[in-house]
Amino acid sequence: MSDPIKIQETYTERLQALADDYSIRLGHRATACVVTFGCQMNARDSEKLSGILAETGFLLTEDEGADLVIYNTCTVRDNANQRVYGRLGALNSMKKEHPLKKIILCGCMVQDRNASEHIRAHYGFVDLLFGTHRLGKFPELLCRMFEEEGMILDISEDEEAGLCDQLPVKRKYPYKSGLNIMYGCNNFCSYCIVPYVRGRERSREPEDILGEARKLASEGVREIMLLGQNVNSYGQTLAKPVSFASLLEQITKIDGIERIRFMTSHPKDLGDDLISVIRDHHKICRHLHLPLQSGSTRILQKMNRRYTKEQYLELAGKIRAEIPDMAITTDIIVGFPDEREEDVEDTLDVIRKVRYENAFTFIYSPRKGTPAAEMVQVPSDEVHRNFDRVLSLVQETAREATARYEGSIMPAMTEEVNPHDGSLLTGRLSNNTIVHYPGSADLIGQILPVRLTECRGFYYLGERV
Ligand code: SAH
Ligand code: SF4
Ligand code: F3S
Repeated sequence: MSDPIKIQETYTERLQALADDYSIRLGHRATACVVTFGCQMNARDSEKLSGILAETGFLLTEDEGADLVIYNTCTVRDNANQRVYGRLGALNSMKKEHPLKKIILCGCMVQDRNASEHIRAHYGFVDLLFGTHRLGKFPELLCRMFEEEGMILDISEDEEAGLCDQLPVKRKYPYKSGLNIMYGCNNFCSYCIVPYVRGRERSREPEDILGEARKLASEGVREIMLLGQNVNSYGQTLAKPVSFASLLEQITKIDGIERIRFMTSHPKDLGDDLISVIRDHHKICRHLHLPLQSGSTRILQKMNRRYTKEQYLELAGKIRAEIPDMAITTDIIVGFPDEREEDVEDTLDVIRKVRYENAFTFIYSPRKGTPAAEMVQVPSDEVHRNFDRVLSLVQETAREATARYEGSIMPAMTEEVNPHDGSLLTGRLSNNTIVHYPGSADLIGQILPVRLTECRGFYYLGERV
């Protein structure tokens, strides 16, 4: 048998027997908990891990006291690694009390050889470690874990194209879903580890993506988030190249899908065709995440971002002019090597001009193996001072930008009962702003018109109309 999909299906069947056997040894039905540490892409991968576990008879829980625990890790900044190391200690203590407990680590941190070597050497209680390229082989790896002695480590970069797209999925939300349109990244921004741990850019065929979107719609999904590290370069390496704009337009035609989001856009590849498609199709949400990283052309060049401050401002200006109700959000890194006072001023200047609806501000974290980690680092007290300046300005502009819709009526996707106040529901506007309004849980998954009565900084209080 050589069809890789069939092979994994056979392993899935074998896994069912192994899971039954595990449950018998435990004296109860085996429970499993999948914890996501990273971005939306990792969250989507976790839904595939959960899909296999649910299909083979595990009872899924959110409690790390479960019999089998999977950490789906991130390594984009060092604090992501530290969070995993911090929590592994607690898992080890639990395993001492419960020797049949299985501990699995996967995802981006594991794919990084430095980290997986460290785990292998110092965290011998971990049962299975596998990297991002092996997700499609999860059934096989689980079988090996149950059948073989000792720690299993697989961080091979060999990947069977499309295999992970065939895994069963257990979605976290019934009404919304992520959808991978591409994997990996070719940009090699000089600070970023993602291209090393996710590999080269690979786009899925448009027919496969459309098929998956139709299937999701038939299952009741009304909102999809198209996922890729740089969706604007989607489709360029396919045998028959397709643009992201045209893919997006085709997805708008699918009945049942009422909202379409996507992330992330790289400013260097965002063309006029995409702006027109978004403008003309209201199913496409009024939210664009457009990472700036730095406002200084000098720093952008060192970051290998391939745009200048002026080009970024021109692009943001064009989007504001063409689609005035579009929220623009961003990522900013403070403390990149050699960042000086005048560079920070440039970043503040862009924030003032674009007036972001929201911005994620990060302190630069050197990642071993990336070019920027070898450059001269900025002293930490200087970085923290600059970070505070950037953060307070983005908060100020974000508050003002969010408040501009006070009093108006907008459709909100009802996402959940407010965890802090059970009489309120939490919904999301097309522009990604959160609004809380009275209502009951049966409205979850519905898109409802809501009056935005009061802006509370970054979110609204509202009422259904
Ligand atoms: N593909 C996306 C982002 C992926 S990582 C893009 O191109 O925008 C998400 C964010 O983490 C990045 O936008 C960047 O702001 C931040 N980031 C990446 N590497 C970092 C590092 N070494 N230190 C601090 N922040 C980093
Ligand atoms: Fe990292 Fe740059 Fe690729 Fe985004 S585009 S994942 S920041 S290398
Ligand atoms: Fe982290 Fe990997 Fe996403 S490093 S940000 S989980 S692609």
